[in-house]
Formats: sequence, C-alpha cells, structure tokens
Amino acid sequence: MSVAFDVTKPLAGASFGATVRLAESLSEGIPKGLPGVLADANGLMLIPGLQEIADKPELLVALSRAFGSEVEDYRYTLTQRSSVHTTVPEIFLVSNMAPVNRKPPRRPDPPTTPDGRLPVQYPHRKGWHTDQSYRRPPPDISLFYAVTPVARDRGQTLFADGTAAYAALPAHLKAKVHGLQGLHCQPGTARSREGALAGRTDIEQAPTARSQPQPVVRIHPVTGRPALYVCEWGQMDWVDGPFVGMEPGPRGEGAALLDELMAHYTRPEFVYAHEWTVGDLVVWDNRCLVHAATWYDGDTEQRMMWRTTVRGNPGAIYEGEARSWMPREQVPA
Ligand SMILES: [Fe+2]
Repeated sequence: MSVAFDVTKPLAGASFGATVRLAESLSEGIPKGLPGVLADANGLMLIPGLQEIADKPELLVALSRAFGSEVEDYRYTLTQRSSVHTTVPEIFLVSNMAPVNRKPPRRPDPPTTPDGRLPVQYPHRKGWHTDQSYRRPPPDISLFYAVTPVARDRGQTLFADGTAAYAALPAHLKAKVHGLQGLHCQPGTARSREGALAGRTDIEQAPTARSQPQPVVRIHPVTGRPALYVCEWGQMDWVDGPFVGMEPGPRGEGAALLDELMAHYTRPEFVYAHEWTVGDLVVWDNRCLVHAATWYDGDTEQRMMWRTTVRGNPGAIYEGEARSWMPREQVPA
C-alpha cells in the first residue's frame, strides 16, 4: 500500500525545497511519488514527524529504496565500523557521542554576520560539499534523520540550490565553467586546501582513494536541468586541482575561480538553513545542491543523526564505469 501525503512548497524562508507530510505511519507502506516531489523542489525535501524510525531503523532503509536502486551498505565501502549502525549497516552515524566521536564543524570567525545573522556564504561559512563527490560514479541522494538533534538555533544544516545558482551565474563564469572538470578529493587529507597551504608532502593516495574528476556543471539525469557541482576547502584536490587543466594549487588561477564560484553558489538567496526537530527527515539530491553543517557546542550538546546514501542514476556520462573507490572483487553481488 502507498501512504498518501501532502506537499507544501517552498521550504520556509527559502526559494526552493518542499515539506511533505505523510497521512499515515511508514509501517503502513512506503509512499510512492516522492522522487518526483524531490525533483520538482530542486532536490530538497523535509518529512517531519517520523519518530517511528528511531525505534524501527529498517524503515529508513525501506524509505531510502524509494529513491534509487541501491542503498549503500557501509560494511562494504571502507567505512570506519564505529560509524555504522550496529544492526542496520545501511545507516551511517553522524554523532559527537561515543563510539563515533565526530567533532562539530569549526565555528565561523566572526560567529555572526555584521547584521547578526547566521553566516551562510562562503568563505565566511566553510564546509560546503556534496556527499562523496570524491567517488565515481558519485551517489544520487542522501537521507538524513534526526534521532537526537542539537537544540534549535544551533547545529543547523545548510543547503544551497545548485540549479538556481547555475541559472544566475554571470555570463563570463558560465563561459569559464563550460566543459570544465573539478578534481574532488577525500576530506581530511594532505591534499585539502589547509594541507596544500601548509606544504604537506604526504600526498600519495591508495588506488581506491584517488581524487576524481567531476563536471562542474552536471546535467540532472531526471530533470535535464544544469546545476553547479563543486565543493570547497576540504573536498577538492588542492595539489593537482581544484580544476583539471587550470593552474593548480591553493593560490593559483583555479583557486581564484573556485572562490568566485563558491561565493556565488552560497549567496543567501540560494540557501536554506534547516533547524532540526526530533523525527525530522531531510532528503537531498547530491546531483544538484551542496550542503554544510554548522558549528555547535560539542562539550554541552549531544547529537545523533542517521544518514543513508542512495545511488543508481548518476547520469549518462558515468555509464558502465567501475567504482573508483572499491576493488572490483569487493563489489557485493
Ligand atoms: Fe555531507
């Protein structure tokens, strides 16, 4: 049975996104038609009131399957075991609690904008990325569920609309990004911008962890609309990139373009800031938006969020490719 739902657009305070309210429990059936709602909302959807998932985590996986053919099983994808749910291995834990112990993002400096607002625009706000863009093919959709969010007005998740940002790109930037590829890198390595600025030399990468080129403008395989597809400090390769075929390095021509693009992409009119409530599920399309987590006080606040990642429709340019991040023999049947 398909559960009925009701859609409100856009998300409060934003120019994109949708809120979906389900008429019944997920245990009654998985709603049909949600991917269409997500596509029409430029790739961002909030489904509030899903407290039942906390007791039945398999419902999150069942709902994830509505968005694509494959839900990542983190046992097989070189993920640290302490970050994987103990009974449902398709759930990745994002938490500052033991045993995950993931630290909150850095606080922006200064902590607010001159008019007292939450900073969202790069470079004041850093951490903007699209999930796992250092893999080819990259994933399509992420689902992020609040088991224990931090208090409202702290620990938000920010989303920027890559479709609207591309449409509003000035002509000289559209010309520059046409046919251009970004070089995406696993976060936390010597190839990050910090690492490159510090002159780190430990830049060797394992065969399954190599930086991957991705188009800066991706054509969405469902809507056919172009969207910006680029990250910033932590998830681009600042040794050989950030762009293929442009002057590399943290101070080169590529760096100047990246800074200009990200400042445009994250202009406040393209951004939605989500304040979390227990039981919220946010679904986003990594093919057409970027997101960032904000700072919270990890010494006084405890946070537990569950994420699933769905893949299966990255677009024609990836057709037939082997997975860059897995040796062939480890790909589960
Ligand atoms: Fe993320």
